[in-house]
Amino acid sequence: MNISVVGTGYVGLVVGACLAETGNDVVCADVDPAKIEGLKQNRLPIYEPGLEPLVERNQQQRRLSFTTDVAAAIASAKVIFIAVGTPPDEDGSADLRHVLAVAEQIGRHMTRELVVVTKSTVPVGTAAKVAEAVGRFAQHPFHLCSNPEFLKEGAAVDDFMKPDRVVLGVASDFARSVMAELYAPFVRTGKPIIFMDIASAEMTKYAANAMLATRISFMNEIARLCEVVGADVDHVRRGIGTDARIGPSFLFPGPGYGGSCFPKDVKALIRTATAVGVPLAVLTSVEEANERQKHLLYEKLVVALGGTVSGARIAVWGLAFKPQTDDMREAPSLTLIEALLAAKATVHAHDPVAEHEARRRLGDRVAYAATNYDALVGADALVVVTDWNEYRHPDFARIKESLRRPVLIDGRNLYDPTRMRALGFTYDSIGRAR
Ligand SMILES: NC(=O)c1ccc[n+]([C@@H]2O[C@H](COP(=O)([O-])OP(=O)(O)OC[C@H]3O[C@@H](n4cnc5c(N)ncnc54)[C@H](O)[C@@H]3O)[C@@H](O)[C@H]2O)c1
Repeated sequence: MNISVVGTGYVGLVVGACLAETGNDVVCADVDPAKIEGLKQNRLPIYEPGLEPLVERNQQQRRLSFTTDVAAAIASAKVIFIAVGTPPDEDGSADLRHVLAVAEQIGRHMTRELVVVTKSTVPVGTAAKVAEAVGRFAQHPFHLCSNPEFLKEGAAVDDFMKPDRVVLGVASDFARSVMAELYAPFVRTGKPIIFMDIASAEMTKYAANAMLATRISFMNEIARLCEVVGADVDHVRRGIGTDARIGPSFLFPGPGYGGSCFPKDVKALIRTATAVGVPLAVLTSVEEANERQKHLLYEKLVVALGGTVSGARIAVWGLAFKPQTDDMREAPSLTLIEALLAAKATVHAHDPVAEHEARRRLGDRVAYAATNYDALVGADALVVVTDWNEYRHPDFARIKESLRRPVLIDGRNLYDPTRMRALGFTYDSIGRAR
């Protein structure tokens, strides 16, 4: 099938590469010439495990190509995925400018009957706006589909190739049959394609992210309470996660959720609900709790260093908002680092893949270490912010030797508090006895 994907970011690139992998002819279009030039030479703009070989192989086999000519990409397609960004507007609502600009271009340049698929995360009611924008110029019939994406950065290729489910909001048999054919190779193991109306599909994506964010904020608040009443959140997590009604995923407390999706989607859903007079009290609290949580590591550090970080040198392990990605959008590391710099501390940071992204955001206000141990030398404390595998089992003797003071704040509960104390660390983590 001839597919075009407009917007070649995290989502568009994964969608394009995976659809090419199953035999489709895919053109990925983007307005960013540097990104497209790099991709033509198999240079990926993002770190995502397993994606590079997929791009390289499918480009070599001529099933996948990249272009800045969005009009030409539209003209060749039977199915067009809109996968451009929907960043938060000033008031928190989703900014649909890019989505609607692409929709208008589709109307102008389409050459046959086709399906317009919204992959970007968009509020309920966007499909009508997309239809209006395409329809303003369309010379051929078109069919809308809302196909929210549930991939996780860091496991995006696997998630797309083996989805838990595919959600397709459609309003015509044409869209239903084209999309069923396109997704058939991805659900051979029996995972469901769930067809529904378009508004429900748009809502499903927000509801999924809102539920996951709620679990995280809930556990972060329980962890805070555990610390004060002398309970251990690790025990509590296992105690409740084994209940089949609750399940074990997304119950790990930490420094607050970040990334490109949860913060913006929670805000956008609150905004949609407020606009139609249905206040979402739970989600409003979820967001507040997360904002509070993002300051927790800084507060713990101040306490551990005796009341001030001014003049201190702090080693930070982990900059990406989670492991296996270089994405730093809304990362808790940024909140911590900005607070440290404002308090006149210096920061020596390490991340296995996000250094280039950190340099783009923080410049030389932070020193970047080549290895995690290099970041420690002469530091007054270590803060672990991202749970990269390589931080899970470090050489504690070496850590202690390198630090000027043996202060370790573990934002991911990677280490055993009893052992850390026996080793002589001033150790604090999230929701466990101090
Ligand atoms: N990143 C994720 O994990 C994830 C997961 C599920 C859904 N989503 C949703 O998918 C959408 C895209 O997210 P992303 O993380 O891939 O964003 P991104 O910022 O990484 O990529 C967006 C791309 O669109 C391009 N673009 C913007 N306007 C364009 C136009 N008019 N024509 C062509 N290209 C244009 C940009 O240059 C950029 O390369 C968002 O709505 C997001 O909420 C993201």
